[in-house]
Amino acid sequence: MGRLIKVGEAKDIPQGAGLAVYLEGRSVALFNVGGTFYAIDDTCTHAGGSLSEGELDGTVVTCPLHGARFDVTSGEVLRPPAAEDVSRYDVRVEGGKVKIEIA
Ligand code: FES
Repeated sequence: MGRLIKVGEAKDIPQGAGLAVYLEGRSVALFNVGGTFYAIDDTCTHAGGSLSEGELDGTVVTCPLHGARFDVTSGEVLRPPAAEDVSRYDVRVEGGKVKIEIA
């Protein structure tokens, strides 16, 4: 198991939106989907768009630069022009605090 890093209070992270958090040199996109939190790399594998700034539709985020889509639950790429998945991270909510697990 990796280390759990607190990134914020669950009540402060709006539903249906992404938030960029910076953890030990990596940029991670945290999403609140109906009260469930998911975390993937913030950097699109196509040309570096910030996925936390993309539009979230259910559990799918669209890259704001060229429209690639990723599943925020798995990091899987669903639509080009991105060809590679992004990393995903486990998220836990403990005592109202959101924590991301870093390997
Ligand atoms: S940078 Fe994300 S689709 Fe191009």
